[in-house]
Amino acid sequence: MARQFFVGGNFKMNPGSVEQKKNIIDILNQADLDPSTEVVIAPPALYLIPLKGLVRKEIQLAAQNCYFKTSGAFTGEISPTQLVDAGIPYVILGHSERRTLFHETSEFVGNKTKAALDASLKVILCVGETLAEREARKTTEVVNAQLQAVVDILKDTAYWSNIVIAYEPVWAIGTGKVATAVQAQDAHAEIRQFLKTRVSESVAETTRVIYGGSVTAANCKELATQPDVDGFLVGGASLKPEFVNIINAMK
Ligand code: G3P
Repeated sequence: MARQFFVGGNFKMNPGSVEQKKNIIDILNQADLDPSTEVVIAPPALYLIPLKGLVRKEIQLAAQNCYFKTSGAFTGEISPTQLVDAGIPYVILGHSERRTLFHETSEFVGNKTKAALDASLKVILCVGETLAEREARKTTEVVNAQLQAVVDILKDTAYWSNIVIAYEPVWAIGTGKVATAVQAQDAHAEIRQFLKTRVSESVAETTRVIYGGSVTAANCKELATQPDVDGFLVGGASLKPEFVNIINAMK
């Protein structure tokens, strides 16, 4: 079964002004976008609802994070059910910035993934190794451990139809140092192998594994030719006009 190409724009804590935000949305709304690519944008939570009304309907919204509880005394958090209530279909979980800066463990990411899926959100689950881990040839071990924490909590394989895995090597995020097509392909193939042995053959075949880390209009086409690269999660370039070229990488 062919996997639908998926391109996400992770705006992170950007844009800095209303004007910048309007520019990005205007560009996306006017662009000629490949209709066969699934497109999701993840603005800061504050902008999710207003952008939902502004962006063309083919573009879906994702939150950049959520908590695992439905409601309660958790100052500053947003629950999965609140996102569903607001009509937001996706959430990004396990981004390396959250793992590193906010000390999120793989177990915590696993708990949040299950809670999000139980609430009917779809999850963009981020995994990836640091430079030191890559240099120590621990990429597969690290990524598999991050995935295993999710496998451990998701007892039913049906959950995986609502997960997109984003392989984001930490050393490539925001550095301008993109993984080579071969590095990305190798890591994605390992992820697929992991899914095959730890979840199921059909989950391995159908789950989208997208790449994130310094993706630009200039490097996206070569990455997209790799058999196990099913799309991208884009940071910096998703705030620029070249995001359209990345969405259209398969055109
Ligand atoms: O989630 C996307 C991301 O972390 C990659 O960021 O700026 O390297 O494209 P960037």
